[in-house]
Amino acid sequence: GLKKKEVHVLCLGLDNSGKTTIINKLKPSNAQTQDIVPTIGFSIEKFKTSSLSFTVFDMSGQGRYRNLWEHYYKEGQAIIFVIDSSDKLRMVVAKEELDALLNHPDIKHRRMPILFFANKMDLRDAISSVKVSQLLSLENIKDKPWHICASDALKGDGLQEGVDWLQDQMQ
Ligand code: GTP
Ligand code: MG
Repeated sequence: GLKKKEVHVLCLGLDNSGKTTIINKLKPSNAQTQDIVPTIGFSIEKFKTSSLSFTVFDMSGQGRYRNLWEHYYKEGQAIIFVIDSSDKLRMVVAKEELDALLNHPDIKHRRMPILFFANKMDLRDAISSVKVSQLLSLENIKDKPWHICASDALKGDGLQEGVDWLQDQMQ
């Protein structure tokens, strides 16, 4: 058959935001795991869409591993950035990490699409994706295409919309 175009994606965001849960849900059901544990270091995962084969660097978001992220920036052609929309206390930390990412020399001047998931929308104290986007000042990102989707990674809500957008960006 036809070989799908391969793209490398970095999955970033604070610990406990739901990165691994999202990537797991994007795999075919027979390849999904039931028990998701906090990522140690990083893990390389794969999933396919109708026209692309994605290789994902699913990075740990724990503070002590965040310094690993930058070593993979050159490899990445796109970014999935996940936010726990119910974690209001750490929204400022998520913004700091995002700003550092956007200002990194290996990211700054490249056309890299960024897909944001405002995740955990099922939780009662979750804030809206519009509010997340305001708190992270996403409107200031002028040199990269970006898109934000509200998601519930447990049910899978919002994930397809996001990945469809990303696929369009990578054609
Ligand atoms: P690190 O690997 O430590 O960086 O975390 P992570 O971002 O990969 O988070 P992970 O996918 O391990 O999920 C953390 C916890 O959040 C798990 O208990 C998940 O079941 C839970 N979780 C993930 N997504 C959602 C969601 O949309 N809603 C709710 N309620 N819980 C979620
Ligand atoms: Mg993880």
